[in-house]
Amino acid sequence: MEYQTERLILRLWKQSDREPFAAMNASPEVMRYFPNTRTREESDNMVNAVEQILADKGWGLWAVEEKSSGAFIGFVGLNIPGYELPFSPVIEIGWRLDKPFWGKGYAPEAARKALEIGFNQYAMDEIVAFTALENQPSQRVMEKIGMRRCEEFDHPALKQGQPLCRHVLYRITKNQML
Ligand SMILES: CC(C)(COP(=O)(O)OP(=O)(O)OC[C@H]1O[C@@H](n2cnc3c(N)ncnc32)[C@H](O)[C@@H]1OP(=O)(O)O)[C@@H](O)C(=O)NCCC(=O)NCCS
Repeated sequence: MEYQTERLILRLWKQSDREPFAAMNASPEVMRYFPNTRTREESDNMVNAVEQILADKGWGLWAVEEKSSGAFIGFVGLNIPGYELPFSPVIEIGWRLDKPFWGKGYAPEAARKALEIGFNQYAMDEIVAFTALENQPSQRVMEKIGMRRCEEFDHPALKQGQPLCRHVLYRITKNQML
């Protein structure tokens, strides 16, 4: 299954996505708000897991392609967090794009489509997003698509007191979409 927006395609992953995805996951700039960059093997393992979920559920973290160039630019989509959070169970929306493609409004454009799929095609009641308090770009995407800022929390997988530990939660229901 493939979905289109004005400038982007949300699609299943291709073998050829793995190399540019590993390169972005190895970039300290792209991974600035994560505790670590990823090795090629870790990056490929993530693609394997994501592909399995897309095959099982029909929704997940889609590979995103720029229509004008055909380039793979990263992922945007829906996911069930793999760990217990203070507000579990939830479905989250997430995004990671390679740096040359930042600042063009691509993440909100793809995210609006992912919300539409979740709410209209899969009858989800609510979708959340969360990120490190320091990650302003990601919070801007949440705000642009109509998500409402809720509580702050400490990420359970990170050490309390370390800068990335403090996170912020956003939520959205179907009628709040922008
Ligand atoms: C977060 C991210 C997906 C935003 O995607 P995007 O397509 O650039 O989104 P937008 O174009 O709407 O820009 C959103 C904000 O990013 C910031 N931004 C834009 N271009 C930027 C650049 N070149 N460098 C740093 N920040 C930039 C701005 O704050 C912008 O807000 P504004 O439009 O009000 O100025 C992208 O920055 C990214 O992939 N970052 C690395 C991975 C990550 O942090 N993922 C989220 C984890 S929760």
